[in-house]
Amino acid sequence: MTQVITNQNQPLASMDEWEDDLLRRYPNPEDIATSKATEAYRNYEEPARDTVKEFYRLNHTHQSYAFVKQKQKEYLSFDKREMSVWDAFDFLNQLVDDSDPDTDLDQFQHLLQTSEAIRRDGHPDWMVLVGLMHDMGKVLCLFGEPQWAVVGDTFPVGCAYSDKIVYPEFFFRKC
Ligand SMILES: [Fe+2]
Repeated sequence: MTQVITNQNQPLASMDEWEDDLLRRYPNPEDIATSKATEAYRNYEEPARDTVKEFYRLNHTHQSYAFVKQKQKEYLSFDKREMSVWDAFDFLNQLVDDSDPDTDLDQFQHLLQTSEAIRRDGHPDWMVLVGLMHDMGKVLCLFGEPQWAVVGDTFPVGCAYSDKIVYPEFFFRKC
């Protein structure tokens, strides 16, 4: 299920809320990077949001080889919509990714944060660009695809499932 951010554009009740609102909307990247130990990321045992486990239950239940082939046929004709890259980022910004246990940032902030971290680490320009564009495929959710069909960790279909995939128990229920 796609969630749309609705409260972000509401006016503040008072100017006293200005500073807190700025920090909520544009958190300091350094604080984000240091507020959590590396091992604390991708914690699927106790995800910060309860959408994460349900997301993977649906994903592992419905994602199949036949489903992938059907979607290839549907989308590889590239006849859904034309837009610039920047417009696609803007379009994507309505989405909150239910599969990500680590962030509630909007998609635009996530893309900028990812590419900036890659740049800061001294990687080449092409890799910064990949960081910026790495989630553009999520626009499929805004064409009506459920999140379980689009976002989250991927895995091969049409063969046996590995027990290293996130929440493997949801695959084995399917058999
Ligand atoms: Fe991402």
